[in-house]
Amino acid sequence: MERLQKVISEAGIASRRGAEKLIQEGKVLVNGSPAIIGQKVSGNDEILVDGKKVKKEDKVYYLLNKPRGVICSLKDKEGRRIVTDLIDTKTKIYPVGRLDYDTTGAIILTNDGELTNILEHPRNEIPRTYLVKCLHFFSKDDKKKLEKGVIIDGQKCTGYYIKLKKYDKKSDKSYVNITLKEGHNHEVKNMFNEIGHPVDKLSRESFADLSINNMKSGEYRLLTIKEVKRLYSLKKVD
Ligand code: URA
Repeated sequence: MERLQKVISEAGIASRRGAEKLIQEGKVLVNGSPAIIGQKVSGNDEILVDGKKVKKEDKVYYLLNKPRGVICSLKDKEGRRIVTDLIDTKTKIYPVGRLDYDTTGAIILTNDGELTNILEHPRNEIPRTYLVKCLHFFSKDDKKKLEKGVIIDGQKCTGYYIKLKKYDKKSDKSYVNITLKEGHNHEVKNMFNEIGHPVDKLSRESFADLSINNMKSGEYRLLTIKEVKRLYSLKKVD
């Protein structure tokens, strides 16, 4: 069961506020009776707005291995490829959070606003694990600095489970795994920059423990019901 105004807004008819107004104005009928704000409806209820039937869209969930050179936005003024172009669906989906244009890896796309809120809310500490290729040797001291947290634009950014995977002496580049539990814009790049290790390449290996292991660049798959249920269970109770 879902709130009526949520169903109306998710069908793209109006914003939640707009939907409330439509209900107040008596323009919404549920199974032939005038609707009330806050009323809960199921897929079996017939909802009419201004006499037109509202289609309750099924929720869809994709995991994409985002390639480089694709933007995580619904439009781009410069005409660059956007992330939803890569998924063959008629459903209006959007990415959960963002990866930079040049960052590759795990990103979820969905039309489920409730799950999106859970996954984007910092309180839920959803893990995002990255493989960072950065300049210079990443020392134990650097690891400690990121574990302690660095301040970026007045905000403390902390890394977890940090591990140097490899150091390539010839190119003077380190490969480091790091997990973050929230997602600010350019967070990984800014954190590594702050400690003197500019990022050369960035890939997100997993989001909320959903890994893109074995998925080719640009490949995507639907999440299973079990996976979606687990994502919902990540919501911390207040
Ligand atoms: N941090 C970054 O700097 N870039 C991303 O794309 C994701 C996290």
